[in-house]
Amino acid sequence: MFPSIRSVALAGFAASLLPQALAQTSTSCNPLNATCPADAALGTNATFLFNETSANSKLWNTTAGTIDYNSTGGQFTISEKGVSPTLISNFFIFFGRVDVVLKAASGQGIVSSIVLESDDLDEVDFEWIGGNNTSWQSNYFGKGNTTSYDRAVWHDVDDPQGTFHNYSVDWTKEKIDWYVDNELIRTLNYEDANGGDNFPQTPMNIRLGIWAGGDPDSNSYWTVQWSGGEVDYDDCPFTMSVREVFVQDYSSGKEYKWGDHTGSYDSIEIVNGTSEAYEELYVPSGTKAKWDSLPTWAKAAIGVGSVAVVAVAAGAFILFFLKKRREGRAAYQLQEQNMAKEQEELLEYKSNYQQIKGNSTEIHR
Ligand SMILES: *[C@@H]1O[C@H](CO)[C@@H](O)[C@H](O)[C@H]1NC(C)=O
Ligand SMILES: *[C@@H]1O[C@H](CO)[C@@H](O)[C@H](O)[C@H]1NC(C)=O
Ligand SMILES: *[C@@H]1O[C@H](CO)[C@@H](O)[C@H](O)[C@H]1NC(C)=O
Ligand SMILES: *[C@@H]1O[C@H](CO)[C@@H](O)[C@H](O)[C@H]1NC(C)=O
Ligand SMILES: *[C@@H]1O[C@H](CO)[C@@H](O)[C@H](O)[C@H]1NC(C)=O
Ligand SMILES: *[C@@H]1O[C@H](CO)[C@@H](O)[C@H](O)[C@H]1NC(C)=O
Ligand SMILES: *[C@@H]1O[C@H](CO)[C@@H](O)[C@H](O)[C@H]1NC(C)=O
Ligand SMILES: *[C@@H]1O[C@H](CO)[C@@H](O)[C@H](O)[C@H]1NC(C)=O
Ligand SMILES: *[C@@H]1O[C@H](CO)[C@@H](O)[C@H](O)[C@H]1NC(C)=O
Ligand SMILES: *[C@@H]1O[C@H](CO)[C@@H](O)[C@H](O)[C@H]1NC(C)=O
Repeated sequence: MFPSIRSVALAGFAASLLPQALAQTSTSCNPLNATCPADAALGTNATFLFNETSANSKLWNTTAGTIDYNSTGGQFTISEKGVSPTLISNFFIFFGRVDVVLKAASGQGIVSSIVLESDDLDEVDFEWIGGNNTSWQSNYFGKGNTTSYDRAVWHDVDDPQGTFHNYSVDWTKEKIDWYVDNELIRTLNYEDANGGDNFPQTPMNIRLGIWAGGDPDSNSYWTVQWSGGEVDYDDCPFTMSVREVFVQDYSSGKEYKWGDHTGSYDSIEIVNGTSEAYEELYVPSGTKAKWDSLPTWAKAAIGVGSVAVVAVAAGAFILFFLKKRREGRAAYQLQEQNMAKEQEELLEYKSNYQQIKGNSTEIHR
């Protein structure tokens, strides 16, 4: 592993400034008390084979560290202190299914995670701690409420650090089902989450990451305990490997608007149209200009799957639904001028994350 200049800089930055970030509250726009921009929808389904192609940078942001892609999958590696590779989708789903084929990292204090997260801090989690090679934890939060004591549940799984398993979540407004290798492991019903109040129900994006929960310099005592103890950086590298991600949005449309400050699914307005993610995934680049010139009704028709109608009308779309092969430009190759913004996002993410983890660890006392 050859850490880039960027990840080294981030490491130093994160290590020195995180405590301050924790002291300040998050700068993210929280729809519970602010008017926030709409969330870009996925509005369709998509398969990402990280064993074949790196994450498309229009659809995913590498907000911390670097991710190496090889034929085993996307490799999220902690190569040294302060590095916590994180990949966040730019698109949101408003109920849906997510399957992640993943092998968790080993290493005491190292946390591998799949997180679905909304702007108002609804959250659905899968987490593995590196010191434990026989289990994983499901968890959830509604509206950032961390005061419940029955959310986190440990589950058995065979060799999570040595074997890829298919971890899935099926999320509807009625319930959340967590699956491992097609086996239903846990169900959370809407009403069982504090009468629905704490039920995740607003558009969420997908976050894959590895972080050092067992680093006492950036985490609370309880987070270190929950993570299984302190990290020994002499044991680096620690790698979480993600082979495949499938995401299906149960809503279709262009974006999700926050109608009020309740954080209720009723308040989310689905804006009709074709999502940018859809265009990126399913409209071949050679025909992009032609696509842009299409009338709105035609794009909308394609968005809901009426391909034939528009294929006839537009004439030129022989290659519809042929998934565009990515140029192989890794998402982490970001411009230097984006550094400040990324660092801000990292801090914001960590601050949310640690606030949540810090509180949630009380459960495990
Ligand atoms: C509004 O939300 C932000 C972000 O979560 C939080 O820091 C702030 O304290 C909230 N303000 C009020 C008045 O709830
Ligand atoms: C994905 O979406 C397409 C239409 O957009 C649909 O035909 C297909 O069945 C979906 N695949 C899955 C696995 O749901
Ligand atoms: C990538 O993984 C998928 C299954 O997850 C598999 O079908 C495909 O053959 C793999 N590709 C390579 C290049 O190994
Ligand atoms: C991909 O990288 C990981 C982590 O470095 C490594 O364990 C794995 O063997 C690599 N796969 C291939 C095919 O080289
Ligand atoms: C990802 O990056 C793009 C461009 O750099 C930015 O517009 C977008 O807001 C970012 N999204 C997230 C979720 O960080
Ligand atoms: C792994 O976690 C499970 C669930 O908390 C626990 O029962 C088991 O003892 C742990 N194993 C180790 C090696 O800590
Ligand atoms: C947070 O959740 C707890 C129980 O799950 C509930 O008693 C409490 O009222 C909730 N707090 C808020 C602000 O909704
Ligand atoms: C986890 O346990 C399995 C089964 O004992 C073993 O094969 C595998 O090597 C272990 N993985 C690690 C990273 O120790
Ligand atoms: C993963 O599990 C889901 C549901 O449990 C299943 O529909 C999907 O086909 C599985 N994916 C892979 C790659 O095995
Ligand atoms: C969006 O599309 C749905 C279904 O096609 C339709 O019922 C609804 O009226 C549309 N909304 C707007 C604002 O156009």
